[in-house]
Amino acid sequence: MTRRSSRPVLLLAAAVTTVGALGQAQAQTAVDPNRMVDSFERAGGKFDGYRRSGAKGVCAMAEFVGSAEGKALSASSAFSGKPVPVIARFSVGGGNPKAPDNAKSQRNMALQFELPGGETWQMGNISAPVFGSATPEQLLGRLESLAPDPETKKPNPERVKAFADANPEVLLQGKHFASQPVPASFGAVNYWGVHAFGFVDASGRKQFGKWVFEPVGGTRGLSDDEAKAKGTDFLFDDLRQRVAAGGVAFDFNLQLAEPGDRIDSAVTPLPEQRKKVTMGRLVIKSVAPDAGGPCVSITFNPMVLPKGVEPSADPMLAARAAPYAVSLGRRLTEGAKQ
Ligand code: HEM
Repeated sequence: MTRRSSRPVLLLAAAVTTVGALGQAQAQTAVDPNRMVDSFERAGGKFDGYRRSGAKGVCAMAEFVGSAEGKALSASSAFSGKPVPVIARFSVGGGNPKAPDNAKSQRNMALQFELPGGETWQMGNISAPVFGSATPEQLLGRLESLAPDPETKKPNPERVKAFADANPEVLLQGKHFASQPVPASFGAVNYWGVHAFGFVDASGRKQFGKWVFEPVGGTRGLSDDEAKAKGTDFLFDDLRQRVAAGGVAFDFNLQLAEPGDRIDSAVTPLPEQRKKVTMGRLVIKSVAPDAGGPCVSITFNPMVLPKGVEPSADPMLAARAAPYAVSLGRRLTEGAKQ
């Protein structure tokens, strides 16, 4: 009797120790994912069934072929040189499913590589080289500062300014968008991964780098008059037309970090002069005719990595997984719209 009951107690004690150690490590950086998603809803509005970020989007099917340079840097089967099917989702930044396509704001390209043996690689890339905050705590603070005041129904400008003054990193991304034209197409803008990742070759050597998907046909922006004339909903049809004509492809370029470079920051790009290697090419093959497609139930969690690619210690990277799962859970429960 004693022997039988002591075993589960011991096992439980071991489990508590493990969970405790993990919990402590996470408590230093993690923000409660429900509170984080609540703050997205308060700052950007709540739209049932939609992603709490990147709400206005369209699903596409693509193909990736890795290069010899990619294969040399990473043992991942993504870089085998054989075509790999990829599910892609293009979206406009923010939680509003009616966000205007003709604003100087964020565009996204999220990808799921369908690798041999059921392995997947997920990523969410954005049209800026930096994210809007350096840590999850700072993101939460920024979102809370942007929440509308209950009386005026608008953010309190003093609170917004006070937070930004104390956390200047939160203004870097907005400065980038303000300096760029409105993208002419989802297929004509750069998409950065923003975090560093480690690429591990067959002998176990790890090279950190930051990637950017660059349109093969070059980037193209609209003048202010052109953007006005295009209206608020042109990006989906533009993408369908360009893809049908066979014209949307991106080079997957990796900028290689050198010793001393910051590889733990989503607000600090690598120095511009760092060597860039083309890891392969992504070609968009078809675009969903409507809001359907396999993207609906996918949350593009950048911690889902293949063997041969590893996360960096950037605190923003690991902090994405749980709020994405919360957002997925909420939109599926509400009846996913996209
Ligand atoms: C702790 C930091 C972050 C939080 C809490 C957060 C939160 C979210 C949430 C809730 C979603 C919707 C997920 C879904 O319903 O499937 C989302 C989507 C997205 N996020 Fe983040 N995010 C964070 C950091 C980042 C960073 C650093 C990037 C830049 C690379 C990024 C890029 C994206 C993209 C591209 C999407 C759209 C993906 C899609 O089409 O489904 N996020 N984010």
